[in-house]
Amino acid sequence: MRDNPFENEKSIHTDFVENMTYGDYLQLDYLLDSQKRLSNHHDEMLFIIIHQVSELWLRLIIHETKGAIEAIEQDNLRASFKMLARVSKIQSQIIHAWDVLATLTPAEYMEFRDKLGNASGFQSYQYRLVEFVLGYKTPHILKIYKKEPELYAILEDAYCKPGLYDVAIRALSRHGFAIDQAVLDRDFSKTYEKNASVEKAWMDVYRNVSVYWELYELAEKLVDIEDWFQQWRFRHMKTVERIIGHKTGTGGSSGVGYLKQVLNHYFFPELWELRSKL
Ligand code: HEM
Repeated sequence: MRDNPFENEKSIHTDFVENMTYGDYLQLDYLLDSQKRLSNHHDEMLFIIIHQVSELWLRLIIHETKGAIEAIEQDNLRASFKMLARVSKIQSQIIHAWDVLATLTPAEYMEFRDKLGNASGFQSYQYRLVEFVLGYKTPHILKIYKKEPELYAILEDAYCKPGLYDVAIRALSRHGFAIDQAVLDRDFSKTYEKNASVEKAWMDVYRNVSVYWELYELAEKLVDIEDWFQQWRFRHMKTVERIIGHKTGTGGSSGVGYLKQVLNHYFFPELWELRSKL
């Protein structure tokens, strides 16, 4: 006879007339009612869920990165490490999501692709928020959200604020490294461009690891995040190639060609360049 694990558990709660359930707390009725297929195709469910799961993780990435920015600004680097490490773990999760999506064949996707119209991940405002908090500010993106003032305001705010790398550079300056004033006072609505004083400061950190252990750890956490970000971009590009080949995207870009080009961008350029010079 098989054991019934519930038999000996006399205290399991079953009366929820008054009390909050798991589903209430997580608003599962709302969450699980949000997978509205536009076709009858079986695989459209996978397509919707993979995007929704990615968006949920992006939400946490933004939350953790903003927390890390605040902690770095308060010189609480150890607290920021915890949050930045969590960001990397999430990135590893969403990279594995490509394995699930890669089970979608080109023939299957073609059966419901036209239902998407011009909708594309290109319009993911959370993805752009991640890029903004990491310091990559692309002006043409804001235009997409002109018709949604609340969203526009959130994006514009992140667009104009210092990103993660800016606050790391400010931390270098507070630790006595000579950083050009033009970098510290830069217009944060512009994408960060590499600078010799910043590279020199990081070089000093990497050459004197035991003296600047916390700044060194911060730098390596940033490299982790950029490394994972690039892996996500690469897996996206390859999965797209596998599913639609070199067709143009629903968002209107050249598709794989565009996604390959985005791979050339660096968030934290000096941290990569110094590796050739150490
Ligand atoms: C069958 C699956 C997918 C295909 C064929 C696909 C295709 C594309 C294409 C062609 C682009 C370039 C813009 C365009 O013209 O549309 C793009 C951009 C993008 N996609 Fe996907 N995608 C897929 C799945 C996903 C998933 C699961 C996510 C997760 C959120 C995602 C997020 C994005 C993002 C954020 C961009 C903008 C990238 C950038 O501008 O750097 N995509 N996608």
